[in-house]
Amino acid sequence: MPFYHKLGRIPHKRHTQFRKPDGSLYYEQLFGTIGFDGMSTNSYHEQRPTQVKEIRNQYSVAPKIARVNNIQSYRFKGFQVKPEADYLDSRKTVLVNSDCAIELAAPQESTKDYFYKNTDADELLFIHKGSGTLRTHLGNLDFKYGDYLLIPRGVIYKIDFDTKDNRLFIVESRRPIYTPKKYRNWFGQLLEHSPFCERDIRRPETLETNNETGEFLIKVKKQDDIIEMIYASHPFDVVGYDGYNYPYAFSIHDFEPITGRIHQPPPVHQTFETDAFVVCSFVPRLYDYHPQSIPAPYNHSNIDSDEVLYYVDGDFMSRNDIEAGHISLHPAGIPHGPHPGATERSIGKTETEELAVMVDTFKPLQLTEEAMKIADESYFKSWLE
Ligand SMILES: [Fe+2]
Repeated sequence: MPFYHKLGRIPHKRHTQFRKPDGSLYYEQLFGTIGFDGMSTNSYHEQRPTQVKEIRNQYSVAPKIARVNNIQSYRFKGFQVKPEADYLDSRKTVLVNSDCAIELAAPQESTKDYFYKNTDADELLFIHKGSGTLRTHLGNLDFKYGDYLLIPRGVIYKIDFDTKDNRLFIVESRRPIYTPKKYRNWFGQLLEHSPFCERDIRRPETLETNNETGEFLIKVKKQDDIIEMIYASHPFDVVGYDGYNYPYAFSIHDFEPITGRIHQPPPVHQTFETDAFVVCSFVPRLYDYHPQSIPAPYNHSNIDSDEVLYYVDGDFMSRNDIEAGHISLHPAGIPHGPHPGATERSIGKTETEELAVMVDTFKPLQLTEEAMKIADESYFKSWLE
């Protein structure tokens, strides 16, 4: 996140002596990306962050691919993914390519006996159901329905849920996830036409600082393996940090829609960008106000990107038979558009309550065995009159 943030206690100068009350030194860590060129954070720890005591199990969690080359449009019934107690076990990859993995999860329990770290990918969690606290080594973020949680790669975290009824839509991205450049000025400040501003970005405000030693399990995800690493000190032992690389939250309900006299294209809904895919938020908004306008989208060919739409809430005007929790996949190479009747149905409508998250990937997505379990194989025929 290109905003400077400071939490806890830090010394006046980087890389200088910063001492504990007993006179010993805190341990400094530069937590950075893209060599020394990307965003970074300087953190100060009670214990050395390097104390690996043991490496236990290593096992693959690579998704099992069911369809490699796909040109068929699909609907997936996301709420058919079964709830599971454990957070990591509950995460089911449904669509994947070499840049990203799109997952559905219905975890029932908070992470208790382990910490988790994804070393390969930034994680974007969209909270469809549930509330709780994301606890990280760089501070905590409370979350609820409609929140995006952006967890940069390498952040060690636990997730606490308030209840058992949780539904998450997750994108793991091997490419860094940023807010769109088009919304920012040369210095990184969000511009006046941006659909969200700095005030909408929630940064960690509370820090858990533990100074315990012992055995602490971190499940580390690397190259589709989970490696169970035992550390000799508590992973949440930061007394302070500053920089640009930290987790943050943004509520889809704080996205201010951009509307026009005629139908606005998906880029006005853009919320996040990478060089491999974009994420857009479709939120309740007024429809187009030209006297002859057609609020439903026109047929369109996304020739070079696969389009994934996750339906969250409201009425999905352009689709028939779509419910909350469904995912539609409209693959690159073929046109798609409103279902029969949807165009006529939209004329004269003044507003929509739809809430949806879209992921457009520039490389084709493969379908996993988990996806096929919840797939509607007949969806591709749904435009037939
Ligand atoms: Fe589309």
